[in-house]
Amino acid sequence: MTNPTENNLYLPSKEVIAKANVKEYDNLYAFSIENREQFWAEQAEHLGWYQKWDKVLDASKPPFFKWFCGAKTNIVHNAIDRHQHTEVRNKLALIWEGEPGDVRSFSYHALNREVSQFANILKSMGVKKGDVVTIYMPQIPEQIFAMLACAKIGAIHSVVYGGFSHEALADRINDANSHVVITADGGFRRGKVVEMKSVVNKAMELSPTMEICITIKRVNIDVYMENGRDYWYHDLVSLPIASSKCDTEQMDANDTLFLLYTSGSTGRPKAMIHTHGGYSVYISTTHRMVFDIKPDDRYWCAADPGWITGHSYIVYGPLMNGATIIMYEGAPTYPYPDRWWKMVERYGINILYTSPTAIRGLMRFGDSWPNRNDLSSLRLLGSVGEPINPEAWRWYHEVIGNNKCPIMDTWWQTETGGFMITPLPITPLKPGSGSKPFFGNEIAVVDDDGNEVKADEEGTLVIKSPWPGMTAGIFKDTQRFIDIYWSKYKKQGWYLTGDSAKKDKDGYFWIIGRTDDVIKVSGYRLGSAEIEGVMISHPAIVESAAIALPHPIKGNCIHIFAILRNGYEANLELEHDLINHMVTHMGPIAKPEAITFVDQLPKTRSGKIMRRVLKARALGLPDGDLSTLED
Ligand code: WT7
Repeated sequence: MTNPTENNLYLPSKEVIAKANVKEYDNLYAFSIENREQFWAEQAEHLGWYQKWDKVLDASKPPFFKWFCGAKTNIVHNAIDRHQHTEVRNKLALIWEGEPGDVRSFSYHALNREVSQFANILKSMGVKKGDVVTIYMPQIPEQIFAMLACAKIGAIHSVVYGGFSHEALADRINDANSHVVITADGGFRRGKVVEMKSVVNKAMELSPTMEICITIKRVNIDVYMENGRDYWYHDLVSLPIASSKCDTEQMDANDTLFLLYTSGSTGRPKAMIHTHGGYSVYISTTHRMVFDIKPDDRYWCAADPGWITGHSYIVYGPLMNGATIIMYEGAPTYPYPDRWWKMVERYGINILYTSPTAIRGLMRFGDSWPNRNDLSSLRLLGSVGEPINPEAWRWYHEVIGNNKCPIMDTWWQTETGGFMITPLPITPLKPGSGSKPFFGNEIAVVDDDGNEVKADEEGTLVIKSPWPGMTAGIFKDTQRFIDIYWSKYKKQGWYLTGDSAKKDKDGYFWIIGRTDDVIKVSGYRLGSAEIEGVMISHPAIVESAAIALPHPIKGNCIHIFAILRNGYEANLELEHDLINHMVTHMGPIAKPEAITFVDQLPKTRSGKIMRRVLKARALGLPDGDLSTLED
């Protein structure tokens, strides 16, 4: 990567092109569209299978597409087992650093032992193929082991982000009818202990299905343990049941690997289903091609395993590709704002994948923090979760990447499983654009009737063709899946992303943001309905509306409009109390920036809150079309 050309294109350097796994886009893209099944079958050959497929794609019952029908596999077969017979076996799978500075590392051989022991423990607790196991943990190696252990025995993991409250956790446990939860006593964040087992204890009181809780000791605090329900992991692992030999369950390619809850426009979070077969193929291929994985790479995706980014690109993708993963437990600024840069130097990290929020957050401390560390090992950078503003892009490129590392701005979603719009290392880059669709994907920006809008015009982002990483649906809610994603362009059979975007004359996509009531705070996905639900659980509030307003670091922040119950008075104290209420009942990521007390909320005649009117008013913009406004 060099200085931008006149039209602001950042061209790949000769060295990048010489080393790239994929050297050319246009022809391979054209091939992948015309021969979609052949393209994916060829990619699937990179993986091991217990039994190959009869059919690459069964599209007979859209939108329930089935990939690699008839095949037998297990993602763990590819992430761990296969490597035991190659030179990867003695390579490091994971280097983990705790916030206090403790370091643990595991070879692929050691990973196999850890995961097998964990899997045997789960089996001895009665966990069977198809059972849902909830994982609520800090960022420690056992979080990864727990996920892989579930997959190994055919159980379904449901990882709940460790920043969610006990109520949010209980909702997810109950929805999934999960009987087993894996947690830790706590984790370290900003030099403090964040309790987790105590949160799980409260959640279990609200979860009648919960029978067993396995706790890993991380921070050594006193926690309440109930006889017959609660087990310490270190006690279990010392028993003969925890043998380090465990067969991997042979799964159908379309069997469920995990559930992951995510927010939508309305109602409660929904559990997106991902499967063993298609997901394995899609994640390993995108990771290999986009991050240009080489045998000696040290790869760091600095997300939390509790979100899809962590599932696909901390855990499964890199392990299937035999890479060395870096994982860090705590805050990027602890104890100083160069913690990350020290880690890059310490471990010789080659690839760093993070979010615009993290980049902006570190950028505000200036260049001296990165500059006093040796970042020359970096070869490729990545960004995900929200649009990256060109200023942050340039800082990342110049100061972190020393003008030589291409930035992979990857657009995708929990539902898509993996990257959908993304550059490759050889792609000429435009700061702020994710560039073009990944192989096999037909993606367009359309109007309400499904006509492509003109170049540089805003429209709705849709995906026109099936891909192996696509979600298999919403757990226990087929109809909701069809309604949300497949009804707007039913005639055409297109997937509705929920984002608006522009496509420029060169075919580059520019994501604008969500068109529904999903709010992206620091790249985290929250639903306005969930936030409003928590607000009205406070005695002072009768009605509320949550909107996203721009924020210099977080991208967006939450702003709430609330109507007070009679007898309550609007004042600063109540505002603080309500903010705390949100943090306690949903989690710190849902902390509102401000609450405005109002007498009325703008509604349509059918009673829907017009959040866009609130947003326009808050930003001092024109109201827009008010013809449907009730009053
Ligand atoms: C939404 C999906 C996919 C992993 C993390 C988020 C936004 C995601 C980008 C990007 C602009 C992006 C979209 C999307 N988004 N990546 N590179 N540029 N926007 O997954 O929590 O399911 O959120 O995140 O709005 O719809 P998610």
